[in-house]
Amino acid sequence: MSSIIISDAWEEDLEQIEKIERESFDNPYPFSLLRAYLQLAEGLFLVARDGNRVIGYCIGIVQYKVRGHLISIASSKEFRRNGVGSLLLQELERRFLKLGCTYSYLEVNVNNAEAIRFYYNRSYRVVRTRKNYYGRNKHGFVMLKSFKGDSGLE
Ligand SMILES: CC(C)(COP(=O)(O)OP(=O)(O)OC[C@H]1O[C@@H](n2cnc3c(N)ncnc32)[C@H](O)[C@@H]1OP(=O)(O)O)[C@@H](O)C(=O)NCCC(=O)NCCS
Repeated sequence: MSSIIISDAWEEDLEQIEKIERESFDNPYPFSLLRAYLQLAEGLFLVARDGNRVIGYCIGIVQYKVRGHLISIASSKEFRRNGVGSLLLQELERRFLKLGCTYSYLEVNVNNAEAIRFYYNRSYRVVRTRKNYYGRNKHGFVMLKSFKGDSGLE
């Protein structure tokens, strides 16, 4: 794999993003929602590229001017554990911080051990459980990372 570049997502990337979405989630976002996020999450819909290939993506939005919400993140199955997710999250957090956010948060399925560990190792902590967040008996954790005092982000 050559060098990974993180950049804004473009309309032309959506097909590849949808493919990653489908292989990553039981209830993937439909193409139409991914396309809507291109407008809604302007500057915070990022992709990881290896040459012309999209190998990961993430979507964030800023709420109430202070909180960064990680809507979704996934990397292509064949490229996982290669640093793609870390690069995407790092760049999204950098942009949240630049936009004035004081923290970043997300929801994750309580059974998604891999993602929970991924977030935990990047300073996110479980602050709440949202019962039935993903459907009946499918609970979610809210995980949060404060940017205050985190000089590594600046
Ligand atoms: C969670 C997810 C986005 C992480 O993406 P990723 O590209 O694998 O992320 P990274 O490679 O940066 O890090 C993953 C792990 O691989 C490790 N790693 C990174 N590069 C590595 C390398 N060269 N060799 C070995 N391990 C490596 C990281 O240290 C990390 O370990 P940790 O989680 O114990 O800290 C990915 O697993 C995914 O797409 N999951 C499915 C979708 C999903 O559940 N998304 C989250 C929804 S809330």
